[in-house]
Amino acid sequence: MNAGFDRAQGLAALTKYNREPFHLLHALTVESVMRWYAEDQGYGDDADFWALVGLMHDIDFECWPEEHCVRCVELLKDVNASDEFIHAVCSHAYGQCSDVEPVHPMEKVLFAADELTGLIGAAAKMRPSRSCTDMEVSSLKKKFKDKKFAAGCSRDVIRQGAENLGWELETLMEKTIRAMAQSEAPVNAELEQIQASL
Ligand SMILES: [Fe+2]
Ligand SMILES: [Fe+2]
Repeated sequence: MNAGFDRAQGLAALTKYNREPFHLLHALTVESVMRWYAEDQGYGDDADFWALVGLMHDIDFECWPEEHCVRCVELLKDVNASDEFIHAVCSHAYGQCSDVEPVHPMEKVLFAADELTGLIGAAAKMRPSRSCTDMEVSSLKKKFKDKKFAAGCSRDVIRQGAENLGWELETLMEKTIRAMAQSEAPVNAELEQIQASL
């Protein structure tokens, strides 16, 4: 799989249109989660592609929330992104603001994990450790069932994502917690570094 650009070019474009720590943290988190999943799912050779899709998937959201998954096409073409890269980015919000269906396993993982990372991040903030490194699936399931908690994270999208992959919801949760836990420290460190450079 060929993205058409590298991470340094991607990060430069991302930080041109994203300045809020919340959005930058989300981009870095989904990037690292996608890298973890590439290895987990037997796509290690394409791990850079999976990760870069994760990094860039919400590039247009901070500046153009009303044109999410539409405006990104021109922003990604500006960095010479390949058609398969643009397809993958647009498919992450299928049925919400995009009619590009997730087809490739990478796209299905992105669709499923994107929304869930938000829920896990919100749940981590409530913990004494303020971390997901000591989070159990059972405690995340409680947060999932509590509709008032992180109400912006669509439970339907997460459920749909697990179904598209043919996974139990618990499997998606368990894997995504693990993926986020292993990269939590480096992601936070890079976020600080990026903010200092903006
Ligand atoms: Fe999005
Ligand atoms: Fe996202």
